[in-house]
Amino acid sequence: MSGTPFYVTTPIYYVNDEPHLGHAYTTVLADVLARYARLWGRETFFLTGTDEHGWKVERAAQSHGVSPQEQADTMVVRFQESWERLRIAPDDFIRTTEPRHRRVVQAVLQQLWEQDDIYQDDYTGWYCVPDERFWTEKDLVDGNCPDCGRPVEQLAERNYFFRMGRHQEWLIQTIQDNPNFIRPESRRNEVLGFLQQPLGDLCISRPVSRLNWGIPLPFDGEFVTYVWFDALLNYVTAPGYLQDDERFARLWPQALHLIGKDILITHCVYWPTMLHAAGLPLPRQIFAHGWWIVEEQKMSKSLGNVVKPLALAERVGVDAFRYFLLRDMTLGRDASFSEASLLQRYQADLANNLGNLHYRITNMTGRYCAGRVPAPGEPTPLETSLQARSEALIPSLREQVERLALNQGLAEVVELAAEVNRYLEQSAPWTLAKAGEAGRVATILYTAAEALRICALLLWPVMPERMATLWQQLGWQATERPGEGLRWGALQPGAAVSRGEPLFPRLEPAGEAA
Ligand code: MSP
Repeated sequence: MSGTPFYVTTPIYYVNDEPHLGHAYTTVLADVLARYARLWGRETFFLTGTDEHGWKVERAAQSHGVSPQEQADTMVVRFQESWERLRIAPDDFIRTTEPRHRRVVQAVLQQLWEQDDIYQDDYTGWYCVPDERFWTEKDLVDGNCPDCGRPVEQLAERNYFFRMGRHQEWLIQTIQDNPNFIRPESRRNEVLGFLQQPLGDLCISRPVSRLNWGIPLPFDGEFVTYVWFDALLNYVTAPGYLQDDERFARLWPQALHLIGKDILITHCVYWPTMLHAAGLPLPRQIFAHGWWIVEEQKMSKSLGNVVKPLALAERVGVDAFRYFLLRDMTLGRDASFSEASLLQRYQADLANNLGNLHYRITNMTGRYCAGRVPAPGEPTPLETSLQARSEALIPSLREQVERLALNQGLAEVVELAAEVNRYLEQSAPWTLAKAGEAGRVATILYTAAEALRICALLLWPVMPERMATLWQQLGWQATERPGEGLRWGALQPGAAVSRGEPLFPRLEPAGEAA
């Protein structure tokens, strides 16, 4: 295992509703990054979970006629089952109602209270009920919530405040000194822009009389903790804060937080100042991705355009669905979702390119090489160049993944598969076989299979099931550490090649398998 561990998180999702495409995207992305890190032999910790306190959940429970805990217990299963079906395999799944988390939240609150980083005051503000956030008069846009555009309510009450404002200069300096702390650049600039205005203190309590469903403040039982203050701390609870010092010290500073652009300020302003006040190091990076837009609009229940990930995964297969999500979202930008684009991507990259290549190679090996991996002969410049391209792709893909430019990285792998398809066209082993040139046929089929096997390994984190089938059919067995196969020549001549069903059957426009 190479030195630094890889620790990746997703936002923890509210249990007021079922998972949708947006949740699935961030979670698939985290899963894929964790699988790449494992492929490269790094110690990996992938965390996801659910955000179970607060008004949203309390109200959802009320509308279903159940207790908030029952609401959470029912909905958490929906998330866990969905992730399992999408082949998302977190190392830990945190629920904010767990005792381990409650302990951490209360300990941090107590510490900040004793340090005078928390004080009590009267507060009058504009409250956005769905977002659970207070806004000042000047924040409002046309009298509505600046974040979601919905109406706000005026509320006056006694509350507790975190002295966030005192960390403003430090935060600006920290962001300026660490260009990679907030990515991409556009989001970093957005946060720096936000910090040009004076940073106020943060209301971190809710009176029990108004909201019951939360973690009680350890120093005043009449209040529960504001849901964001509670939720953000999940990222330190899971790697062992106040439970396992050694593990926490190893993992925590490596954290990569994947978030949607909608929760930029909570993660890039509230969270670092909370950590700073508590004397904890910052995460390594916060990366905000764009939104999936459906028919030019944000997905929302009221618009009736919420995309359910599992239905789509059934249509094209889980692996193809994962591939689509990563291939079609460009670093930090919004992506437009449509079923047509999903099917088009499936057809072009998977059915016609990768799947077709696999089908051709296994079939010809069956026909011309008695179903065994052939021993390659002397390479011509064609083979040397294909080998060089395959070898160059290995570090290049790693670099793209580390930059979180997955769509570019995947495009390069699929481009190599297309190149191998062209190589087969060009060298026409079927003609050579008829002409009795068995040696050339063996070299060509070995070269094509080896390049495809490398493609399959590089795509394995994205399509774990299909790619493992692919390389097995090509005659390669992964060891405990499949990453060891990331080199030219690991495919052993003589190994049995099987002619399976097409890996990505072509779809008719109407969606029926061909
Ligand atoms: N509970 C908070 C997060 C707390 S993290 C300490 C929350 N939960 S949420 O259930 O509303 O999920 C928000 C996340 O879902 C977004 O940040 C984003 O990751 C994802 N998405 C929600 N809608 C999305 C799209 N339309 N497109 C892409 N992702 C979006 O906020």
